[in-house]
Amino acid sequence: MSNSVLYHPGDGYLAWLQYRRITAGANVDQYAEYNQIIVTEQDDVVIRSAVNELTQGMEGITGRKICISGKTERTPSIVLGTFGTGSRIAEVFSEEVSSAIKAEGYAIHTDSVTGDIVIGAVTSAGILYGVFHLLRIMGAGGSVQQLNMVENPVNQLRMINQWDNMDGSVERGYAGESIFYEDNRVTSNLQRIQDYARLLASSGINAIAINNVNVHQVESRLLTEFLPDVAKLAAIFRGYAIKLFLSINYASTIEIGGLLTADPLDSTVREWWRAAASKIYAAIPDFGGFLVKADSENRPGPFTYGRDHADGANMLAEALKPHGGIVIWRCFVYNCKQDWRDRSMDRARAAYDHFQPLDGRFMDNVILQVKNGPIDFQVREPVSPLLGAMPHTNQVIEFQIAQEYTGQQRHVCYLVPQWKEILNFDTHLQGEGTTVKRIIDGNVHGNAYSGFAAVSNIGNDANWTGHLLAQANLFGYGRLAWNPELSAEEIAVEWITLTFGTNELMVQTILNILMNSWEIYESYTAPLGVGFMVNPNHHYGPNVDGYEYSMWGTYHFADCYGIGVDRISATGTGYTSQYARMNMELYESLESCPDELLLFFHHVPYTHVLHSGKTVIQHIYDTHFEGAERAGQVVAAWELVKEQVDGRAYQQVADRLVEQAEHAKEWRDRINTYFLRKSGIADQWGRTIY
Ligand code: GCU
Repeated sequence: MSNSVLYHPGDGYLAWLQYRRITAGANVDQYAEYNQIIVTEQDDVVIRSAVNELTQGMEGITGRKICISGKTERTPSIVLGTFGTGSRIAEVFSEEVSSAIKAEGYAIHTDSVTGDIVIGAVTSAGILYGVFHLLRIMGAGGSVQQLNMVENPVNQLRMINQWDNMDGSVERGYAGESIFYEDNRVTSNLQRIQDYARLLASSGINAIAINNVNVHQVESRLLTEFLPDVAKLAAIFRGYAIKLFLSINYASTIEIGGLLTADPLDSTVREWWRAAASKIYAAIPDFGGFLVKADSENRPGPFTYGRDHADGANMLAEALKPHGGIVIWRCFVYNCKQDWRDRSMDRARAAYDHFQPLDGRFMDNVILQVKNGPIDFQVREPVSPLLGAMPHTNQVIEFQIAQEYTGQQRHVCYLVPQWKEILNFDTHLQGEGTTVKRIIDGNVHGNAYSGFAAVSNIGNDANWTGHLLAQANLFGYGRLAWNPELSAEEIAVEWITLTFGTNELMVQTILNILMNSWEIYESYTAPLGVGFMVNPNHHYGPNVDGYEYSMWGTYHFADCYGIGVDRISATGTGYTSQYARMNMELYESLESCPDELLLFFHHVPYTHVLHSGKTVIQHIYDTHFEGAERAGQVVAAWELVKEQVDGRAYQQVADRLVEQAEHAKEWRDRINTYFLRKSGIADQWGRTIY
């Protein structure tokens, strides 16, 4: 990247945009042929980014200078253009191909006569994505001789949420400080932001909210006094076809507007937001809109005024509507002042109970953003029953790339397999095959807006993500949002080869580390879907009762007889009734409830026998011993790639893996000891428990 001089390649700053010289392999001679890019639309900012990227990429890969020209001087060349702009584009793509390409899609074709590689699209964004695709092929050493493809993103909104605060901190950030802010102002290091935009665009991201959903006084002023800075950031992202959004404080009218109310039905409040929106669009004509966390975890919202979420969201949507903006309203709403003694209240029910009855009441430029699970990004949770349960309302799914509960980027945990499982979950809401991915891509209900959002995992650490292997989650999220049919393995292999190179043993070794990592992490942390068991506040490390007697609604109810939360309809909180009948029955019955979610749905004795044939208590002991042991084996596996990976990259990962292996033992011993002491049941194999 442009300021890569500041960084050593082994630091990981270049991430998957290494563009390292390809000197071996069957196709290397092919690449050397291409040293000219032909493009007519050189004034378009996104096309300029595409051309810069292609130049940088090709020069890196071939080691030769690339020239850029408006007309064909020699062949073979790489030709870029939107339809209707150049005769080569019209010649190469048939009517059938061009009509198959949607707004952000593209076609890539190698002309068998001239050898030209032609990238055609409807929009400049499509050209940019096509260029990144071509560079992925070459970066992995693939053939470019017979390319012939049409690609369209499956999901319309592919968004990143930064949880960055203007004091420079990042909420749930595990990779240093914010790259956006320092000392309560917007950073002047715009180069790093541009490099981030490149990383995001290269994986297919097209939207970003640049500040934390918890918006306090200073961040509220992003709408007003900091607007010129926000406009600068928007311009950077615009160059990479990424729309900029702001998280807003629902009570901005009070916080910075000088009004005494934030009542959504109050005309002065409505007028304040209309004026604010007009000013924003005057500065940023393609501004995306607002992301809102309201009436959630002590943030203000419409409840204060006896109004509901639809009233609140529609008030903002009305202000944005004339400008084409949207409101993304989060559904992470629950009572965070619960009495732990009251077992009838269930946090898992909250999002559905609050929002489902409002279906049909939201304006068409409102999207509800629903966390993937009903609690909070645990290593294992069922799928949120709210997804797909509001046919007349736009929804996006929210994932957390930041590893808040999955090892905080000190442990390796490749999350794409987890996200795949969630996306493939059949809700049965409109009969068999109503999978989450089909709901989310807008096909099931034909929604105006749909897609993916996720909490970013980056900060100003040299390698962006703290743990170098956590870069795979950022890359993987974007690739999956583009196409949920890609497999977790495919995505991992792409990431490994682009990041580290093509050596087969190395690729295979890292692939195994990534693909086993979620299972390993799950096995030494909270068992059987029960969740939490972490230290309060920072959420790192084991603490079985850390939240047991708190007000946050995340309990496991372990006593000397058993453990788990009774969420079934017959005897418990009735959470299961929020699912379609097939799934409700699946979870309701002890016989059919999947082992991995057993303690999420049922309270059972330690001697309850799982489908695996083991008792719950023996399962806890076994998985914790095995998990810690496997975490140790990962350290040894990584040693196998020492010769193939840059020394500094090797060392930074090795250090984290050693830390993980040690910390996994702490998890193992704390959890096992807790349950031995509670249950009084010895480990069948007599291993050491304290
Ligand atoms: C989690 C996280 C908070 C965050 C919240 C949210 O609870 O710990 O830091 O603010 O999610 O998604 O809003």
